[in-house]
Amino acid sequence: MARKTTGIPGLDSMLQNGFPFPSAVLIAGEPGTGKTTLAVQSLFHGAKEGEKGLYITAISEPQWLVQKFLSSFSFYNQEVVEKGMIDFIDLGPTIVKNPSDMLDIIKKKIEQCQPDRIVIDPITPMIDLLQWRGETREFMHELFAYLKAFNSLVLITSEMSYDDISHSQESYMVDGVIVLSYPEEEKVRRKFLEVLKMRGTKHTTGRQLIDITDEGLAVQAGLR
Ligand SMILES: Nc1ncnc2c1ncn2[C@@H]1O[C@H](COP(=O)(O)OP(=O)(O)OP(=O)(O)O)[C@@H](O)[C@H]1O
Ligand SMILES: [Mg+2]
Repeated sequence: MARKTTGIPGLDSMLQNGFPFPSAVLIAGEPGTGKTTLAVQSLFHGAKEGEKGLYITAISEPQWLVQKFLSSFSFYNQEVVEKGMIDFIDLGPTIVKNPSDMLDIIKKKIEQCQPDRIVIDPITPMIDLLQWRGETREFMHELFAYLKAFNSLVLITSEMSYDDISHSQESYMVDGVIVLSYPEEEKVRRKFLEVLKMRGTKHTTGRQLIDITDEGLAVQAGLR
């Protein structure tokens, strides 16, 4: 099976040398657990290998705010962004006016960009927006069918706790699920990463300790 290295120290060895390619992987976790950091770090890692990246966000955080936060990490490379190797797109304004256009806009952007790696961060507001119209299921099916047909690695972040995952449609539709969490144990909060599933991969199981520093997110192999 073809693979792409994740760009996250310690994660490739948990996944038989990287994410399956092509594939769609859900990065689930509660607020502040490191979903955006992981996803974008992987985009910049790809860019270093000459891959094109596309970052899609909607509503929850404007693109410039995300970029400002990310630019403090050492993996962020302004030159890569200026050269267009990584494209940042904020669907927020369009989506509020016309939620039904969301899918077409996403497809058009992807066709324009021809990315090797795509990040949708987070998918939660898109789903919430469509919920009241009862269009969520259809949207998700179409989006995932489209993404799967496209030859790329897709990382989709979602605001979810462990309890949410087992009955979420997203987790059934993707090839892999990675959960980030920060449970309180013995009065300290530590951050963890767990690979819940990864198709075609003998992956490490159980929660692994992670660290977020100026260099980004890293898995501390073997430490608990
Ligand atoms: N330079 C840094 N050094 C150490 N920790 C950091 C650094 N920058 C960010 N963090 C940690 O990473 C967390 C934010 O990570 P990130 O934004 O990737 O999480 P997220 O899961 O995407 O959050 P949200 O659900 O709000 O979008 C911060 O809450 C902080 O704990
Ligand atoms: Mg985020």
